[in-house]
Amino acid sequence: MKTIIVKLDDNNTDMEALKAAGRIIRSGGLVAFPTETVYGLGADALNPAASEKIYAAKGRPSDNPLIVHIYRLEDLYEIARDVSDAAVRLAGEYWPGPLTMIFKKKDIVPLKTTGGLDTVAVRMPSNRVAAEFIKEAGGFIAAPSANLSGRPSPTDASHVIEDMDGRIDMIIDGGSCDIGLESTIVDMTGEVPMILRPGYITGDMIKAVTGQVDHDPAVFGKMSEGLRPKAPGMKYRHYAPKGDLIIVRGEREKVISYISKGINEAAGAGRKTAVLTAREDEDAYPGEALKISVGARDDEDEIARHLYGALRQCDDEGIDIIYSEDFSTPRIGQAIMNRLIKAAGHKIVDVAGTGGTGTVLLPG
Ligand code: TXA
Ligand code: MG
Repeated sequence: MKTIIVKLDDNNTDMEALKAAGRIIRSGGLVAFPTETVYGLGADALNPAASEKIYAAKGRPSDNPLIVHIYRLEDLYEIARDVSDAAVRLAGEYWPGPLTMIFKKKDIVPLKTTGGLDTVAVRMPSNRVAAEFIKEAGGFIAAPSANLSGRPSPTDASHVIEDMDGRIDMIIDGGSCDIGLESTIVDMTGEVPMILRPGYITGDMIKAVTGQVDHDPAVFGKMSEGLRPKAPGMKYRHYAPKGDLIIVRGEREKVISYISKGINEAAGAGRKTAVLTAREDEDAYPGEALKISVGARDDEDEIARHLYGALRQCDDEGIDIIYSEDFSTPRIGQAIMNRLIKAAGHKIVDVAGTGGTGTVLLPG
């Protein structure tokens, strides 16, 4: 299949190109598009045959439901039942934006789109190209992240091209994504809103609007404890880098010394290493490693924005061992570490109080 690639951004929303993208969706095709979180791989959410194509293009298990993207609030009521006051208030505060809410679905939403569930996940993106595209396409776009299953979510059009060129009808290149992590998912079907996937909209931000919030225990837990995540997609490891990813946490000096020792040993054995580091620490590591600065330590937005690109870069450069510093930053650190710990398959070394030898925590 020949994939059409068009370049658009907030200042150049070429309506002809967006109309063409809309026509592709209306005739059952697939279009990748930018959002403020990550790129999405879109299909007509109300057309089961179109949703099915998404699973094939990504190589994604078909029990993993898709998020339905809308561009105006009134359309929520076309696809969702029992929309609570709390949900309306959350939408008022955080839509359009990086928040996905789960509702009981209406019959119009095919089970192919919801992975067989009787609930539907809905999000209204703030990215202007995304909003115009959804409108041109008829208003309901089912879209997972536009990566091949098992790779990090794409945060730049180049990542989408890498994974999807030749597999889908069109890619809309809208540059780099502002946030770089997938949306917060909150289940609104129970008494208390429950976060199933942490993101840029934090638990505190939700609580500020609704008065209460719970977390799916699987957000913090490990699969080995038998916790079944309520968001089916969260049970997958998601992204296993080709190299071994190890997170090292503890006092700054001890972390640097532990990782540096690892880099030197690996270099001696002829293995390629990389280190994901805060900009301040970049120069502290031996030159044998590929140093990828993800951002200034106190700029958590920058760290989030660069995380997936950094992991892709390690694969591109054939890295054998990837060390990462801990990025448990105050606000979205929970979301950043949720993704990083999954990518590391829970390999965390805690060097606190051990004189730098490190305790390997392998919870599963
Ligand atoms: O920021 C985002 O949310 C991006 C952009 C493209 O909007 N999309 C995204 O989609 O991250 P995806 O498919 O990669 O992740 C969707 C997650 C999966 O873990 C899926 O299991 C969960 O949402 N999900 C979808 N519908 C659900 C439902 N009805 N109940 C529980 N979890 C659901
Ligand atoms: Mg995904």
